[in-house]
Amino acid sequence: MMDKEFFAAVTQATNLADNNECDLARAELVGIGGRGNYVMPGAIIRTKPEKIGSGCVIGLYVYVNGDVTIGDHVLIGPHCSVAAGNHKFDPATGWFSARTEPDGDDSIVLGEGSWLASNVTVTGGVKLGKCNLVCAGSVVTKSTPDYAIMAGIPAKQVGRIDPESGEYIWFSHEKK
Ligand SMILES: CC(C)(COP(=O)(O)OP(=O)(O)OC[C@H]1O[C@@H](n2cnc3c(N)ncnc32)[C@H](O)[C@@H]1OP(=O)(O)O)[C@@H](O)C(=O)NCCC(=O)NCCS
Repeated sequence: MMDKEFFAAVTQATNLADNNECDLARAELVGIGGRGNYVMPGAIIRTKPEKIGSGCVIGLYVYVNGDVTIGDHVLIGPHCSVAAGNHKFDPATGWFSARTEPDGDDSIVLGEGSWLASNVTVTGGVKLGKCNLVCAGSVVTKSTPDYAIMAGIPAKQVGRIDPESGEYIWFSHEKK
């Protein structure tokens, strides 16, 4: 068993903590502090700090890896994966390369003001427009326009947000 005090501190920091204070402090520790960013427990952020804007919330157990740009006021819900770069199959070895390698433009952009709900995956090369709502559990494999509502695997545009009223306009409802 690890040192009891350390164990208690880690458990409290992830379970009992004051969300605002600890999430701001975590942002500071990973180099994106001082601009209203919040980082929740378990999030792994492996992109350059200058690629992340201000006022962002990076949720529980989020994984960000590679050339990923995150616009201002982006919310990333729990268990999302935003990873640029893929493993490549190498016929010489007969397995996938251990390191991810760039393949064309694999960079990812999350447009300002977007919300990725829980368990969303964004694949390499995708550029999300601004103020997208990506519904829970979606896998986004293609770039999207501004104010899109995306859902499903692979994600399709199922609606749009009216930027004036804030209303969600679902395409399936329009057809009825
Ligand atoms: C996107 C969301 C906010 C929409 O909620 P809402 O406005 O109440 O919308 P509805 O539940 O009425 O759904 C509207 C349509 O989208 C579909 N839809 C909603 N969420 C969906 C999802 N995750 N995947 C696929 N389709 C979805 C519904 O089936 C419905 O389609 P229909 O009208 O053709 O039957 C909600 O579905 C969602 O994903 N919430 C995520 C919550 C979350 O992850 N919270 C963690 C905090 S970050």
